[in-house]
Amino acid sequence: MRSFIGRDILSLKDFERAEFFRVFQVAEDLKPIARDRRNSDLLKGKTLLTAFYQPSTRTRLATEAAMHRLGGHVLGFSDAKMTRAGDFYQESIKDTVHMLEYYGDVIAMRHFQQGAPAEAARWASVPVINCGDGWGEHPTQVLTDLYTTWLEKGTLDGLTFLCVGDMRMRTMHSILYALSQFASEAIVVGPPEMSLLPEFKAELDERNVRYREAESVVDVIDQADVIYMEPVVQPDYTKARDERGAEVGRTPEAYRVTRELLKARAKEDAIILHSLPRMDELPPDVDATRHARYWAEAFNGVVMRMALLSLVLGAAE
Ligand code: CP
Repeated sequence: MRSFIGRDILSLKDFERAEFFRVFQVAEDLKPIARDRRNSDLLKGKTLLTAFYQPSTRTRLATEAAMHRLGGHVLGFSDAKMTRAGDFYQESIKDTVHMLEYYGDVIAMRHFQQGAPAEAARWASVPVINCGDGWGEHPTQVLTDLYTTWLEKGTLDGLTFLCVGDMRMRTMHSILYALSQFASEAIVVGPPEMSLLPEFKAELDERNVRYREAESVVDVIDQADVIYMEPVVQPDYTKARDERGAEVGRTPEAYRVTRELLKARAKEDAIILHSLPRMDELPPDVDATRHARYWAEAFNGVVMRMALLSLVLGAAE
C-alpha cells in the first residue's frame, strides 16, 4: 500500500481498496479520543490551514475539530471575500497557495471551481485535502459515509446503495468512484435534468462500477441496504455563494424518503446517509426512525478527519 505521508486527498478515484480500510483502522484507533471528548498531542506542533471559498458548516468545523482533538493548531478563512482572492485582485490559486503553504502544514480547501484543490496541490509543498470542489468531488464526506456504512454493516461488499438526488453532486461522484473498489452495486435515482453526465457514465463503465438507473425511490427502495441522499432543491455549486430566492421548489415524491415509505417498503435494516444540509427530501420525522444514521455521521466525520490528518502528517505510520 502507498504511504499516506505528505499525500494530497483530492479524489476517491485515487483510492485503492486497502487504503479505505487503512483509513478506517486509523479512525478506529483514534476514536476513543473523540468519544471521550479529550484532546491529545498527536499533532502537537502541526498547523491546519482551512481555505474555504464556499460556505460550510460540517466539513470545515469537523476538520478543525479533528485538528483540535489531535492537539494541533488551526487557522484559515471561511469567506474568501475577506481575502485578496475574493476582492478586487481576484488573486489566483497559485499565488494564494504560495502564501498558504508557509502558514501551515496541511491545507483543507473547499472551492466553487471543480479542480481548484488539485490546482492548489500543484503549487503547495504541503498536503492538500479536497473539502468539496464545485460539482467535482467530496472525498472526506464520502470517506465518512463509507466508514459509517462499514461500522453499521461490517462490510462494503455485497451491498446495494440507493443514491437519490442530484447526480451532478460532488458526493455522488465520489461515492460512485469509490464503489469501483467494492463488490457492491448502486441504483441511482434523480431528475432527468440532474442525471449522471455521459462522460461520467463512461468513466464509471471504464472503472467497472456496477450501477443502474431508476425513475423513483418508490420502485427500488425495497432493494437498498444503504439509502444515500442529496437534495434536488439546492444551490448552484459552481458559485461562491447562492442565496435563497423568494420561491423555493419542492422535491417531487420520486426523490423523497419519508417515514411512510420506509415503513411500507424499506428493508428492516436499511440505513439512511445524508451529507446534509437537507431540504424537504428527508422530513425531520425520519430522524427518529431506526434507519437514520446521518447524525452518527457528525461524530464519524470528526473521527474520519482525525484519521486523514494524522495519516498525511505522518503521525499514524
Ligand atoms: N456535508 C457537507 O459538505 O456539509 P457542509 O456543506 O456544511 O460542509
